[in-house]
Amino acid sequence: MTATTGYKVVAVDINDAQLEKGRKAIENSLKKMAAKQVEKKSMDVATADKWFAETQSRITPSGDLKSLSSCDLIIEAIVEDLAIKKKFFVELGSLVNPNAILASNTSSFPITQLGEASGRASQFVGLHFFNPVQVMKLAEVIRTAATNEGTFDTTFRFAKSIGKEPVVCSDTPGFIVNRLLVPFLAQGLLMLDRGDATVQDVDIAMKFGAGMPMGPFTLADYVGLDTCLSILKGWVARHPEEPAFVIPKCLEAKVAAGKLGRKSGEGFWKWEGDKPVSVAL
Ligand SMILES: NC(=O)c1ccc[n+]([C@@H]2O[C@H](COP(=O)([O-])OP(=O)(O)OC[C@H]3O[C@@H](n4cnc5c(N)ncnc54)[C@H](O)[C@@H]3O)[C@@H](O)[C@H]2O)c1
Repeated sequence: MTATTGYKVVAVDINDAQLEKGRKAIENSLKKMAAKQVEKKSMDVATADKWFAETQSRITPSGDLKSLSSCDLIIEAIVEDLAIKKKFFVELGSLVNPNAILASNTSSFPITQLGEASGRASQFVGLHFFNPVQVMKLAEVIRTAATNEGTFDTTFRFAKSIGKEPVVCSDTPGFIVNRLLVPFLAQGLLMLDRGDATVQDVDIAMKFGAGMPMGPFTLADYVGLDTCLSILKGWVARHPEEPAFVIPKCLEAKVAAGKLGRKSGEGFWKWEGDKPVSVAL
């Protein structure tokens, strides 16, 4: 999204295979976007090809953190592990341009702690995107008590400039969307723990009675049951006083059995690609 709006992007991953996978995914996504413009007749084929080539030329894949040294904004989106993220920011803080803004795309960790690890808490924000990023309009901009006004303003304007609808939130667990969504998923799963209703009936009820595109079991499978469990475990440990943060037994059991939802082909539902096809027993 950033490269399509004219910015130069350095995309870093320490794992070569993942770097190539990411590069290929971006290439395919840009090809689809170009084809769509031709289909809508807003570009002819030659213009779409030029747009594709120019956008790609603005992206530099790299396996080396040092290649971020001249960037003005660095958005961290590495594995969701607090210790690894803190180590990353300790290293990054000493490598990059002293005026650069540092941002984290974390879904569940305190932005304040990551900012402190970077050694430049005043230039640190949360910048939380939603999957698939090229489709989902929302960006949550998280301002900590230490974030300075200039850092916040620039990040908010950046989010707008890449076509997102930014919202502001303080450094509260889950920010806005996940703070409401993850407890909703947990409450849905608790209905199964208590034997109140079946997986299928809870999902049908929330789809047709509450107008949701997916019920809680389908959505938890879609997000990844391991991801849901790790978010909830972190919140329960850090906020034992919050009654909305609970861990359903059925969620722990599925993850222990390696049934992680869509990505493993089975969770509460059996999946074929991106489609849930039948309830798993
Ligand atoms: N998956 C989602 O739907 C989603 C949505 C919003 C936000 N997020 C957040 O984005 C981040 C990434 O999520 P994901 O699902 O893509 O994770 P993932 O574990 O699938 O991918 C993480 C990538 O980071 C790379 N990596 C690990 N350590 C690194 C390091 N030190 N330097 C550079 N690269 C490193 C890995 O090689 C891997 O390619 C997490 O913080 C997550 O909370 C994810």
